[in-house]
Amino acid sequence: MAYRTVPSRPELKDILPADFLHGYASAAYQVEGATSKDGRGPCNWDEFLKDYPDKGDDACRSYDLWQDDVKLLQQYGAKSYRFSISWSRVKPLGGKNDPVNEAGIQYYNNLINALVDAGIEPTVTLYHYDTPLALDERYRGFAASDPTELIDDFVAYAKLCFAKFGDRVKRWLTINEPWIFCSLGGEDGLVKGYTRQDFFRVGHNCLLVHGNVARVYHREFCQQRGQIGIALKNYDWVEPIDNSPEAIKAAQIAEERSLGWWAQPIFKGTQTTAWDHYGSTFPKLTNEELDLVFGSADFFSINHYGTMYATGRLIEPYTKTNFRDLDDVEKTHFKHGKPIGRRGENGHPHTVPWGFGKMLIHVWKTYAEPQNQSVYVYENGYSVEHEASFSLEDIINDQYRQEFYDLYIGALCDVVRNHGVKIAGYHCWSLLDNLEWNFGYKPRFGLTYVDRENGFKRIPKNSAMTVAAIWDHVVAKT
Ligand code: BGC
Repeated sequence: MAYRTVPSRPELKDILPADFLHGYASAAYQVEGATSKDGRGPCNWDEFLKDYPDKGDDACRSYDLWQDDVKLLQQYGAKSYRFSISWSRVKPLGGKNDPVNEAGIQYYNNLINALVDAGIEPTVTLYHYDTPLALDERYRGFAASDPTELIDDFVAYAKLCFAKFGDRVKRWLTINEPWIFCSLGGEDGLVKGYTRQDFFRVGHNCLLVHGNVARVYHREFCQQRGQIGIALKNYDWVEPIDNSPEAIKAAQIAEERSLGWWAQPIFKGTQTTAWDHYGSTFPKLTNEELDLVFGSADFFSINHYGTMYATGRLIEPYTKTNFRDLDDVEKTHFKHGKPIGRRGENGHPHTVPWGFGKMLIHVWKTYAEPQNQSVYVYENGYSVEHEASFSLEDIINDQYRQEFYDLYIGALCDVVRNHGVKIAGYHCWSLLDNLEWNFGYKPRFGLTYVDRENGFKRIPKNSAMTVAAIWDHVVAKT
């Protein structure tokens, strides 16, 4: 190996506190399967993927094999498991007056109890992109032009989860990655007849839903002594390609229009001015809404994947075809013809540990430290290029993912050590080789291989052992 592995660096021994929360993450639609079992109602993804070969009907069969998942987490020495609740499993039609599905409640109770018994902290995401289909049909789900019903329905769903699970779940995430959720809605995506206004509206509605749910949790469930946050992400960490004012400005714009859209109002009480650019199509928060949203997260949670360079050139403003580049900033993985790091499947993400380090310093200084909060990484992962066509031996050996986690957790430890960044948790994405949104199983992010031909048997990859050995070295014992 061309670098010093984390366990071979004595300066990183016990650099993280004994209560550092390290573990794994997953999302309901991507792992559960059993999409029509025991009363689960259909969700937007069932509909969207119905004609694709890879859809959630089986996923990783975690609805049936959850005990195997808990065993894996124990084997990997995880302290934490972040999973999401399928809204349409606990409330098949989704609305505030719609019936509860007790079998769904039982499923999550079983999982949570087993985790707690195993000494693993459950972190629950309320919404990882799966809306009950009935709500999409009633008012276009998160794209609702008037979000009143959406907010009421989501708050009722959240209250149900707090009431049923909040005695054991002490950390909640309202919504996963509003930025990616907006862009998934595009074109033939989750929102039918998608327009630019829909993109903005979905993102705006995410803020309002998050703010309302957090307020209700703080007001009505404070005796549970838990915390609530939102899993944010910037699409990529964007690094100016050189010192030109144009490249530096472009990198700032990229941050403002992805992460900043949500992080500014939630953690700073401000709104990104960059949106002036889009005129009245962009729904701004009123003062009242800003008051609701500001201070609505108890910790700073970030998901991180890639790093790219900003060239300094701006690209065509938003059109239907470049919705993922809504920030209008041209980005590249190359500098002087050299790739920024080891390429992942589909080119995303590349292995760029220094980008992760810079991102951590940035979010800490900008959003977390001023609020006296810690940073939690709730997803970080890598899809090895062409992994789906590797031999089983190479999949299990998992050389490039071992390298990825060594470099990334090393970068995390370095920013703690050298920059005083307060990081309280880190989660690998993901526990299993799960379904990936409209790419099927081809980009694989898991630290566990799932043998679909043989009863969905879970086979640990060596990266999981590497990660366990790293934590053993860097996390203090007492
Ligand atoms: C999402 C996951 C997804 C992962 C890898 C993240 O943006 O939260 O659901 O599987 O990226 O593509």
